[in-house]
Amino acid sequence: MKEMKPGKILINNEWCEAQSGKRFSVINPATEQILTEVAEGDAADIDRAVQAARNAFEQGPWKTMSARERGRILNRVAMLLDKHKEDFAELETLNNGKPISETRNADLPLSIETFEYYAGLADKIHGDTIPVNGNFFNYTLREPAGVVGQIIPWNFPLLMAAWKLGPALATGCTVVLKPAEQTPLTALKLGELLMEAGLPPGVVNIVPGFGPTAGAALATHPEVDKVAFTGSTEVGKTVMKLAGDHLKRVSLELGGKAPNIVFADSDIDAAVNGAMRGIFFNQGEVCCAGSRLFLEERIHDEFLSKLKTRAEKMIVGNPLDPKTQMGAQVSEDQFRKILGYVEKGKSEGAKVVTGGIPAQPQGYFIKPTILEGVNNRMKVAQEEIFGPVVCAIPFKNQEDLSRQANDTVYGLSAGIWTRDIGKAHRLAKEIKAGTIWVNCYNCFDAASPFGGFKQSGFGRELGKYALELYTQVKSVWVSLD
Ligand code: NAI
Ligand code: MG
Repeated sequence: MKEMKPGKILINNEWCEAQSGKRFSVINPATEQILTEVAEGDAADIDRAVQAARNAFEQGPWKTMSARERGRILNRVAMLLDKHKEDFAELETLNNGKPISETRNADLPLSIETFEYYAGLADKIHGDTIPVNGNFFNYTLREPAGVVGQIIPWNFPLLMAAWKLGPALATGCTVVLKPAEQTPLTALKLGELLMEAGLPPGVVNIVPGFGPTAGAALATHPEVDKVAFTGSTEVGKTVMKLAGDHLKRVSLELGGKAPNIVFADSDIDAAVNGAMRGIFFNQGEVCCAGSRLFLEERIHDEFLSKLKTRAEKMIVGNPLDPKTQMGAQVSEDQFRKILGYVEKGKSEGAKVVTGGIPAQPQGYFIKPTILEGVNNRMKVAQEEIFGPVVCAIPFKNQEDLSRQANDTVYGLSAGIWTRDIGKAHRLAKEIKAGTIWVNCYNCFDAASPFGGFKQSGFGRELGKYALELYTQVKSVWVSLD
């Protein structure tokens, strides 16, 4: 592999070192080797980046540029990303540990599509005229929210950057983006493309660094108007408190513990595929993973035996091999946390059907894991494991099911497998979650909104819905007297 240059901080379209001079190491989780070093931004660098974003927002080309021209720039970002997709896919796989087949077929196409979608939306953002009482002309303007701080996680590093940047740039905001400390490399590489696409200086600034230093500085900075965060529910609560001091607008996309529900009247083989995709996609490091597998009692044993066979056939290993189906967990912390949950499950009375142990002597690989005999009140059924561990929970009937499915602090997503369409639609209404998949799982499109109920957060990303996060409405009254 060619040697990688150390990563830097991007401020005002210039790459720089941290003011402290500090750097941190970035690891390849499949080999535990250091990939490269990256400048470690902290409060001082965040301050410079926010000033740059503020200047770019208040002055010069970004503010006066037409919405259509902003759209053209976003289109060029999409085209450049498409041109370099193989390099990005490989870099993402090296840094995150996820299989190259997934970075090629999911992360990259979805990231490109997100920029394309918001490129097309940029010149379709507008206010209304409102028929008010009296002799007035009243209309609304939809203006950008301002300087936006965006803090993203490590599970879909490039895609999360795209979800955040696409709508923010379409609406005319300026941004300071903080990638996760585990996986800063593709966001930094994206910085190169943003400049090549013609984004003016200061519109997007990228500051790699740690949460309690760089992240917290961004959430508290008085010149940041809005904070968008994706990550753990715990840190989401902290970010909201920090942002509260200046009453910044906040949107949060947090954890999940999704029910993936299989009725006896479903196409069982399709549901087995869906359960596999629901929990083993991206090594289970997915906020909407189908981690609570509810099985109607009648099919419980048959389903688990099919799922076990499939799970044991999964190819786990070298993420760069196109045949690999599951790669490495992102970090040693995650690896230990996940194995810890398997032990917790066992001590709570769950039984390991398969997996539950490391898959390789080196690298953070874990075997696809199924726990049975889980009841919904156990820790393994209530807490986000964020790994390839599915908890199978039997249910008697629909009433028993609905009660358990909603018995969680989370509400990000759910899967429903049945051939009874009436039942599917009734449940889709009943379940408190932001996304419902019927006879499918983990489907995404830039046009369809995504976000949580309850402690999975608030605000909807993607689609037209994301425009709400990055705009504010102004009402203008004109006397016609
Ligand atoms: P995290 O929530 O700590 O990290 C996400 C982002 O928040 C990173 O960019 C991090 O630097 C930043 N951050 C951390 N502390 C911060 C603070 N005090 N102020 C501002 N920003 C801060 O997630 P972590 O610790 O990497 O993973 C722990 C667990 O969180 C995982 O096991 C998983 O259960 C959950 N998680 C959920 C994600 C989701 O998409 N829902 C994504 C990542 C983690
Ligand atoms: Mg953390």
